[in-house]
Order: sequence, then structure tokens, then C-alpha cells
Amino acid sequence: MNSYGSFPGARPRRLRTTPALRRMVAETRLHPADLILPAFVREGVSEPVPISAMPGVVQHTRDTLRKAAVQAVEAGVSGIMLFGVPLDEKKDGAGTAGTDPDGILQLAIRDVRSEVGDDLVIMSDLCLDEYTDHGHCGVLDAEGRVDNDATLERYAEMAQVQADAGVHVVGPSGMMDGQVGVIRDALDTIGKEDVSILAYTAKYSSAFYGPFREAVGSSLKGDRKTYQQDPANVRESMRELALDLEEGADMVMVKPAGPYLDILAKVADAVDVPVAAYQISGEYAMVEAAAEKGWIERDKAILETLTGIRRAGAQMILTYWATEAAHMIRNA
Ligand code: PBG
Repeated sequence: MNSYGSFPGARPRRLRTTPALRRMVAETRLHPADLILPAFVREGVSEPVPISAMPGVVQHTRDTLRKAAVQAVEAGVSGIMLFGVPLDEKKDGAGTAGTDPDGILQLAIRDVRSEVGDDLVIMSDLCLDEYTDHGHCGVLDAEGRVDNDATLERYAEMAQVQADAGVHVVGPSGMMDGQVGVIRDALDTIGKEDVSILAYTAKYSSAFYGPFREAVGSSLKGDRKTYQQDPANVRESMRELALDLEEGADMVMVKPAGPYLDILAKVADAVDVPVAAYQISGEYAMVEAAAEKGWIERDKAILETLTGIRRAGAQMILTYWATEAAHMIRNA
């Protein structure tokens, strides 16, 4: 009641009155199956190694990775994205360890596949930066620049060894021109038509990858600006999208997620393939750090970031909180 007669006639607050009402009219719901767990596996360690900038995330041993995969399945998570961390002495200019059938990533794919079979979608990062001594995502030419086409040949080989190891989905993340097409061809050539490609379609050159570089022991000096996208651009993502679809991407991804929700919404509007977003290491670190200081409520903040990414149009979210968030969602 007020002194303005029947004003306001429209009262949106009515639908916010009780938790049950709010739940009923919610437009976005999180489900454990929306989530994909990125996981690191390190060669030659007998105990998991904590990543200091990502509290709660470790470089797994082959054994603890198997356990993490089982826990993800039990929580209802859909997939796992694997990253290999080779011994330092195995890094070289060509990223040879990335195409060694017994390289750490290939072993990890086999381990996880034998542990959980098809109960989890097993995905692998298809990129050279974890294996090169210079830390770039590709091989270098005589002038020290990343050589696009020579890199494509390495990616083709990587796709084949990863597929042979039993991966369901490869995730090319190096942002080389033509990578999706070359990888599709390479897979088809060896009869791996069933292996899907989750293309890192719009991957921005981001300061928020910082903690990841520790996670994979990257030796990168300088930056990736000649291949990853400029944070200032939108149209460029739409061009990358068109090319990836033309080259045969089965699913597309936007990365990072939080600072690029506009890109995500645009991409999701434009396509009829599944769209993923990668909530990256720096996004994780920010929430954990603020929560540790008592500045934000951790669990609520986590679910809010994931809801925002879903709402913007991502059907699948890669997040380091995947297993824990799946439990939170179930218990909510
Ligand atoms: C490249 C790759 C990166 C990430 C995933 N794949 C690092 C980079 O491009 O610098 C970052 C993931 C994260 O920060 O969580 N292999």
C-alpha cells in the first residue's frame, strides 16, 4: 500500500518472494553434466605436486589422475581435458615428447581410458607448448618466429598419437591457421573418423593464463600475441568461427570465459554445434585468493561464475572446480 493508488502495477519482485518461486522461474540451471574437468599429469613424480597459484589443483601422478577421473565420473561430470607435463629434459625445439607414443599425455590417456572407459569423455590438449623448450605453441623458424605450417605437421602427428592412445576428443589450442582442417585429415587418414574435434575457436591472448604456465612448467619468455587473439577484438572471433566450422570442428570453444562473455553469447547465437567455454586458471585463482582473504563467499562465487557462463550461452564449461561444483549443484 502506498499513496500513489495502484502504482506500480507491475511488480517483478512478486516472483522473487520465496526460494521455491525463484527456483521455478530460474532461466538457467547448472547440471553436473555441463562440466568438464581440466587435469594435469606430470611425468616422473610419485606424489601429486601442488600448483601454488591454483590452491586445490595439483599436477597429478599417473595414479592420482586415475582416481581424479573416477571421482569426476562419480560426481556426474561429463568429461576430462588432459594436459601432459613432461620431464624438463624431454623438452626440445620440436616438442618431440608431444608425439612420442609413450609420452606422458599419451600414457595418461591410456590410463584414464582403461580406468573409466567410455563413462567420461576423454579429451586431450593438442598443443606443443607443454613440450617445447622455448614454450611456444608451435615450432620456430630460423628467425625465431612461430612457423604456422611447420607446426601444422606436428599437430597432425599429435592428433594421431593421441587418437591411437584412445582419446575421444582432441582440443587443438595453439591457434595456428588451418589447424582444425589438418587435424581432421590426419585423424581420418588413420581411420579415426570417430574422434571429435573441440576447437579452441576464440582464444584470446590473456593475462589470466598466468597460473597455467606454472601448472605445466612452461618456459615461455615473451608472449603469444602473434597467434592468440587481441582482447580488443570481436569480429576476429566470428571469422575464426567460420573457418573452424568449415574445417570440420565438431564443437567450438571460447577462452577465457568470464572476461569474454560477450564473445561467448555471440558465438552461441551464431552456431548449431555445441559451444564450450573454458574458465581458465586465472579466473580460478582470483576467486580462490579473494575467498582465502575472506573477501567473498567462495562457494556462492563459484556457482555464480558458472551460472554466468551458462547464461551467456556455453553448453559445456571447462572448470578446475568441475568435480566439487558438481557436488555443490547436487546438494543445492
Ligand atoms: C595451451 C593452453 C593454455 C591453456 C590451455 N591450453 C595456455 C596458453 O595458451 O598460454 C590455459 C588454460 C588455463 O589458463 O587454465 N596449451
